[in-house]
Amino acid sequence: MRAHVVTFGCQMNEYDTHAIQSELAGIGYSFVDTFKEADLVLVNTCAVRGKPVEKVQTLLGELRKERTKRKDLKIALMGCLAQLPEGQRMGQRFGVDIMLGPGAITEIVPAIERGKFQSFEFKRELQFYSPPPPTGALSAHLTIMRGCNHRCTYCIVPATRGPEVSRPAEDIINEARALKDAGVVEVSLLGQNVNSYGLVDGTGSRRSRLPGYPSFAELLRMAGRVGIPRVRFITSHPINLDDEIIEAIADTPSVCRFIHLPVQSGSNRMLKRMAREYTREFYLDRVRRVRELLPDATISTDFIVGFPGETEEDFEETLSLYREVRYDMAYMFIYSEREGTPAAIHFGDMERRVKVERLSRLIEVSKEISLEQNLNLIGREIEVLVDGPAAEEGFVQGHSRGNHVALVKGNLTRGIHQVFVVHATPNRIYCLTDRAGEVALHERAQISLPIYESSFSV
Ligand code: SAH
Ligand code: SF4
Ligand code: F3S
Repeated sequence: MRAHVVTFGCQMNEYDTHAIQSELAGIGYSFVDTFKEADLVLVNTCAVRGKPVEKVQTLLGELRKERTKRKDLKIALMGCLAQLPEGQRMGQRFGVDIMLGPGAITEIVPAIERGKFQSFEFKRELQFYSPPPPTGALSAHLTIMRGCNHRCTYCIVPATRGPEVSRPAEDIINEARALKDAGVVEVSLLGQNVNSYGLVDGTGSRRSRLPGYPSFAELLRMAGRVGIPRVRFITSHPINLDDEIIEAIADTPSVCRFIHLPVQSGSNRMLKRMAREYTREFYLDRVRRVRELLPDATISTDFIVGFPGETEEDFEETLSLYREVRYDMAYMFIYSEREGTPAAIHFGDMERRVKVERLSRLIEVSKEISLEQNLNLIGREIEVLVDGPAAEEGFVQGHSRGNHVALVKGNLTRGIHQVFVVHATPNRIYCLTDRAGEVALHERAQISLPIYESSFSV
């Protein structure tokens, strides 16, 4: 039995795909690279913006065609889009056999055995589910909590992934140990808002602790003691990034000083409309505290441009916030209306032309600031986790502890290396294994490279 799995969306979906594949392997499936060779195709979907939804639709169209030739081909639609009315309509239209929401992935084996099946429940058993470690991976994901309690007005995630549920700390630490034993050198702790790990229901900055659970700060210290050289976490919600968490990062050498802190907008009027629960001033205070305790931290963010009602003045506040924080990296998105969200119900979408124009202005600022930030790294010795050969001949590619994409000259093995930064572009740093040869590399690195090809979406 052969399965082909396609994954869209965020790291949490990648982690879920790994869990699903582990279950399938347990009943004898092997995995193939194209749907043409498969008996079963699983599509793990994303619904956060229009683009991933369109991609799923295109793929389902191709699969429907394939099935006219091979009647016994089974198709499963899973993940965030499958949970929504939009996805369920699509599933019916394209004759999908199995539909499982992100809270029901543990039902994959019974679903396949029955042939036709659907479930959109948030199963309690998922809270206690640990997949086995992936084979041969240096970096691995580890979901520490699922769901989201916030109600950002543009966002579909609370509808797709349900309310927050934290996994028991003991399971998380055992899973981290198993990853370490399997050779993993970098683990990313995942959640929509990892900072609210172990907190009771609700939102806001004053939530109390669930009995028997550590705080996220304590969990970071525990994960730091497992012995994996790099521990990272995504995503932080500014409202719960308290001083204790920043102190835990500062005190725990294995925790990478990399904070992804989505801001969405620099305008208080927009933040309020988005129901982000903080102001620009509150956010800047959190950044100030990070800079105080972790002066060498990398800070990245997410922005949405063209949210309904965003004026030129509001947008300029986003540009000024970018310059004030001096982000190292940013993911920049055009607002995409999502069916059923408060913003889609209450506000009208703005002209696409304006959104595109604003996005390109934000990208210009981001390139300028990221280049300045990256140029500051030249001459420093840094640690790079090399993942394999780069597209550019003679280089290997990896990433720093601060999540910079790093190209290193030479034929280095996969794994952690100490290197020297000799050149930078807005989205790459170039490194050598010794300080010699800087000039030659500098010249070579002048080749123009695509910039931000994957960090923004139109
Ligand atoms: N839980 C995380 C982010 C999850 S979604 C957080 O709160 O920060 C990842 C990013 O997608 C968001 O930060 C936001 O910038 C973007 N996003 C979410 N919904 C969107 C929409 N409707 N249109 C455009 N971008 C969106
Ligand atoms: Fe979406 Fe907001 Fe929850 Fe993030 S915090 S997943 S943006 S609702
Ligand atoms: Fe997409 Fe769901 Fe992740 S909507 S971004 S796959 S949580």
